[in-house]
Amino acid sequence: MNGQLDGKAVVVTGAGRGLGEAFATHAAQAGALVVVNDIDADLAQRTTANITTHGGRAVASGHDVADPAQAAALVELCVTEFGRIDGLVNNAGLNYEAVSWHDDPDDVRKLVETNVLGVIYVGTAAARAMVDSGRGGAIVNISSGASLGQRRLATYSASKGAVASLTYSWALDMEEVGVRVNAVCPLAHTRMVWKSERSLRNCPPERTPARIAPLVLFLLADDSRGITGQLIRCNGPELHIMGQPYVKQPVLRREVWDSESVRRAFGEVFAAHLEPYGLEKRVPPTLREWTGTAPLTASGTRPSPWPLRSA
Ligand SMILES: NC(=O)c1ccc[n+]([C@@H]2O[C@H](COP(=O)([O-])OP(=O)(O)OC[C@H]3O[C@@H](n4cnc5c(N)ncnc54)[C@H](O)[C@@H]3O)[C@@H](O)[C@H]2O)c1
Repeated sequence: MNGQLDGKAVVVTGAGRGLGEAFATHAAQAGALVVVNDIDADLAQRTTANITTHGGRAVASGHDVADPAQAAALVELCVTEFGRIDGLVNNAGLNYEAVSWHDDPDDVRKLVETNVLGVIYVGTAAARAMVDSGRGGAIVNISSGASLGQRRLATYSASKGAVASLTYSWALDMEEVGVRVNAVCPLAHTRMVWKSERSLRNCPPERTPARIAPLVLFLLADDSRGITGQLIRCNGPELHIMGQPYVKQPVLRREVWDSESVRRAFGEVFAAHLEPYGLEKRVPPTLREWTGTAPLTASGTRPSPWPLRSA
């Protein structure tokens, strides 16, 4: 035990396996009192037993984060069991791959209920309890590099983009009540990765969930006092801050934008300012012939040579 989280009570959602399990066990090793939540109650129990066997303190919760009453009960369990709540890792999540035009409404709803509503329900309940205690706290939301946009992951990407936006807004709202809010974009070899051939290529087995835990513990701990509103990515070897969307110059001004002036704005000014898009930073078609950058193929390679526009 290094004492980094000594005496702090922390809720980790989705902690029965994968990243959440690593965050919960490392938090306990660092001295935290941990609520180990997972909708799979047996797995939550397994992680809890593992912590207590090694001398840590933990309690299991089988609550479903996607249900607002259960999300509130999960936070309440932390307060009744440990007398306080100082930290939350909003980690529970699910994903699936689909070609966007075949996305199934039931899959969409289930994913949004867990990845977006679940994060909001547990986060707001935890923040309320932190405000009521007068001590504040730290929330770490688990987002994803996919929030920038990824093929076959549109709904998942959108849910993780929502988590990034929530992080910025919550950080703005909650600074005055002493709650810091940051987000982590992890990459680790878990069930979520095993399910996808493409993810497996980018994430070999040595990228274990344990490699992401020190970052999450830092953001929960007082060590990171003064750090809020940040989106931070760790994929094992690399650790970096993610840039945030901003209003790009030039901002053009007209009393009224009619169809002719919009057309001219794109033809004469914005043509060279269009942004590469998605995690793969695909160059927009109108610029491709000038930059000579072909889009990546489905297997992640770039065909070459890509013909440059002839004069
Ligand atoms: N593995 C990666 O490389 C990666 C990359 C980016 C983001 N993430 C994010 O990290 C988080 C953890 O992912 P993981 O890879 O460990 O996945 P995982 O599937 O191994 O674990 C997720 C856990 O969440 C639990 N869960 C799902 N719905 C729940 C609900 N409604 N209530 C409570 N628990 C619920 C599941 O039972 C499971 O045990 C997710 O939010 C995921 O989107 C993972």
